Amino acid sequence: MDFSDSFLQELADRNDIVDVVGSYVSLTYKGGSYWACCPFHNEKTPSFHCDKDKQFYHCFGCGKGGSVINFIMEIENLSFPDAVEFLARRAGMEMPNDGDRAQRDRRARLLDLNRDAARFFYAALSAPGGRAAQDYMVRREIGPVTAKNFGLGFAPDSFYALTDAMREKGYQDFELVDAGLANPNQRGKGVHDVFRNRLMFPVIDVRGNVIGFSGRILGEGEPKYLNSRETLVFSKSRNLFALNLAKKSKNGYILLTEGNIDVVSLHQAGFDSAVASLGTSLTPEQARLISRYTDEVVIAYDNDAAGQKAAQRAIGIFQPLDLKVRVLQMEGAKDPDEFIKANGRDAFANLLSASENHIEYRLATVAGKHDLGTAEGKVAYLKEAAGVIAELYSPVEREVYGMRVAEKAGVDKAVVADEVQRARSIRAKAARRQAERSVVRDVRASVQPKDRALRYENTRSALAEEGVIRLLCVDATLLDACDLTSEDFSSPMLGRLYGMLREKAKEHAALSPAVLSGSFSPEEVAQITTLRSRPEPADDPGRRKALADYIGIIRAERDKRTVEDLRAYAEIIRNKKGYGG
Ligand code: UTP
Ligand code: MN
Repeated sequence: MDFSDSFLQELADRNDIVDVVGSYVSLTYKGGSYWACCPFHNEKTPSFHCDKDKQFYHCFGCGKGGSVINFIMEIENLSFPDAVEFLARRAGMEMPNDGDRAQRDRRARLLDLNRDAARFFYAALSAPGGRAAQDYMVRREIGPVTAKNFGLGFAPDSFYALTDAMREKGYQDFELVDAGLANPNQRGKGVHDVFRNRLMFPVIDVRGNVIGFSGRILGEGEPKYLNSRETLVFSKSRNLFALNLAKKSKNGYILLTEGNIDVVSLHQAGFDSAVASLGTSLTPEQARLISRYTDEVVIAYDNDAAGQKAAQRAIGIFQPLDLKVRVLQMEGAKDPDEFIKANGRDAFANLLSASENHIEYRLATVAGKHDLGTAEGKVAYLKEAAGVIAELYSPVEREVYGMRVAEKAGVDKAVVADEVQRARSIRAKAARRQAERSVVRDVRASVQPKDRALRYENTRSALAEEGVIRLLCVDATLLDACDLTSEDFSSPMLGRLYGMLREKAKEHAALSPAVLSGSFSPEEVAQITTLRSRPEPADDPGRRKALADYIGIIRAERDKRTVEDLRAYAEIIRNKKGYGG
């Protein structure tokens, strides 16, 4: 949906960028800006900064930047409208009306109720009545910081604790039932709590809504976990436990586990990209959801027959999604939680790197994809399996696994060795090309936008165009001295921006980063932020001189372009008339 400029501006005014960013990273004030290590790439010295006056953020390292809305889109992995809604909620602003009001209101009401219930459970955990749950957490080695991160709570051992507390907050019994938090009493009137005497795991979606709960019994007993049933806001098959946290991880892969406790343990040990399906086996919807946040999944299912079978099934579900899938093999522990507690975090990190080339597993997966009963199937299997073996560094390993593949396909081992050799030389060539490309890229990256689609066609002109924009952003009165039109710009994006600047100046309004976020893609906003953070002269005569120089360059380049266009046009005409060649 489209938001008006004035709505976006108010949204930005009520969500100061330094406040918002400061709630994700710790900012240090220095030299007019707030600095931090960039939350979007790994670094040791801060190159990420927030400008309070201009209300934008920018990273000199990775080139990310933009308004407070872009920041939320990036860090919470949200679409533009979802980020707007996120910030509106943060500031207690009403969203502009859209769509089915009644349905939206019902959903919003259930989400409010869930959030209030989560707060209630959370408070109950540290209250004196939460003793049993606290003891249980100590036994499971779940620390207070982790508990807070996940918003863990305790459902008291009572039929009415939650119901009473929520009634007091103004919720009606039917709403508690709709949210799956209460059940109607069998006899007579009224309702009672569904979750009793359990350690509560709130399920939070990627937008930060509490959509449901999973409650574990304290100790032994049945059922071990009780999950919210399906409601207007909760669908097990479309959500994953802890994806709200994992989507912010810098790991570059998602760790898929079976159990809530596995996830909690992994996060506590620093593996902050762990998620779990919600007591169901992995669904295609969940797989697609994962693929929105990563291109690599590491499956860390339980180390029993059922877990291994589920892993094979999951591989099949990920197959069409073009994700890299690895499977972790744990020995001597039944699940990741047990493994970490027995062997420590380093041992788990080792498992992760070992799974990188878990060759047998990958070969089995390749074999499963092809029908080895047919000639085509065999050929396809051989080619793909050779590709896997070609990645192995050790010649001995290549020999051993090559033999196995040969046996499986029923061919001579020399055939496999040939195929592996071919795959290796293709890989080597690709690696060389990659290296060459990255050198070229490094040279160009200093001036070119990070995003490929935004590459400038005429760098000389584009840099001058950037200069014009930069100057007009700091001082709109310079527009009087600037008689360029949008068409003079070689970069369509910069031309459009220039046009908007002119419009805004007419209305005596500034073009704020938040308004930009509504009209430009995140990549474009990042590029605009980057160009704005380069220096320009601070005094008026200096600025006017710079502006005149920029205009000169843009004109000269445009004239060259016109000549080229005419030549190209003449060429077309010639060819048409058949004089060409
Ligand atoms: P597990 O039995 O492996 O539980 O079930 P766990 O999370 O590893 O917990 P601990 O370590 O035994 O305490 C895996 C997942 O299956 C779902 C839950 O989501 C659980 O996390 N499950 C399990 C249920 O929904 N209901 C159950 O009764 C049991
Ligand atoms: Mn388990």
